[in-house]
Amino acid sequence: MKRRPTYQRFPLGSHLRERLVLRDGRELLLRPIHPDDEAPIRGSFALLGSEEVRLRYLHPIKALGEDYLHRLTHPRRGRECVLVLAEPLPPGQALVGAVARYVREQGATDAEFAIIVSHFLAGQGLGYLLLSRLLSCARRRRLHSLHGDVLADNHAMLRLAAALGFVREAGEDPGIVRVRRVLRS
Ligand SMILES: CC(C)(COP(=O)(O)OP(=O)(O)OC[C@H]1O[C@@H](n2cnc3c(N)ncnc32)[C@H](O)[C@@H]1OP(=O)(O)O)[C@@H](O)C(=O)NCCC(=O)NCCS
Repeated sequence: MKRRPTYQRFPLGSHLRERLVLRDGRELLLRPIHPDDEAPIRGSFALLGSEEVRLRYLHPIKALGEDYLHRLTHPRRGRECVLVLAEPLPPGQALVGAVARYVREQGATDAEFAIIVSHFLAGQGLGYLLLSRLLSCARRRRLHSLHGDVLADNHAMLRLAAALGFVREAGEDPGIVRVRRVLRS
């Protein structure tokens, strides 16, 4: 069932840049990640609940490693797409409330996505918007499919994936569900 978005969208001249106005009046920018987002993302990780972290990283972690943060904020052109929802301030000053990413291994035509929308912003259709944008990014780059590994108890993510046409695949680990959306045959 198609739902009504709970925010207004204002395109900013590129398919990956939009200004959003939430129902409570808060404004956000949807934009590609920037190297200066590193410090705000390190900071906002501390504000996440342990359950959000477990669901995103598939196991509990205490902090984001410096190597990981550097790679996250310096996506390899053509192989990665990383989008954030951030305050409408210059990168570095803006708090980052959501990150969606896909990574394609060299030579592969399939990429793996992962997404987190912090509880400050969740439940407003923003995960749906971010994953839709990752799909359109993958389509533009002519990827064959996008997949993600989701904990079997992560019902919100499984509903979100199903709403965007992802289908479940049988896997070896019963605790993890792989969801895949084929983009072209
Ligand atoms: C899972 C997560 C990304 C969802 O983000 P979110 O912004 O709250 O999700 P949304 O509000 O866009 O979508 C959630 C719901 O709306 C539905 N939905 C949203 N927009 C929709 C639309 N336009 N049409 C149809 N369905 C829609 C989804 O299917 C889902 O259904 P539910 O309300 O019954 O749960 C977020 O909770 C999160 O970050 N969790 C912790 C980390 C995590 O689990 N990451 C996933 C690892 S891959």
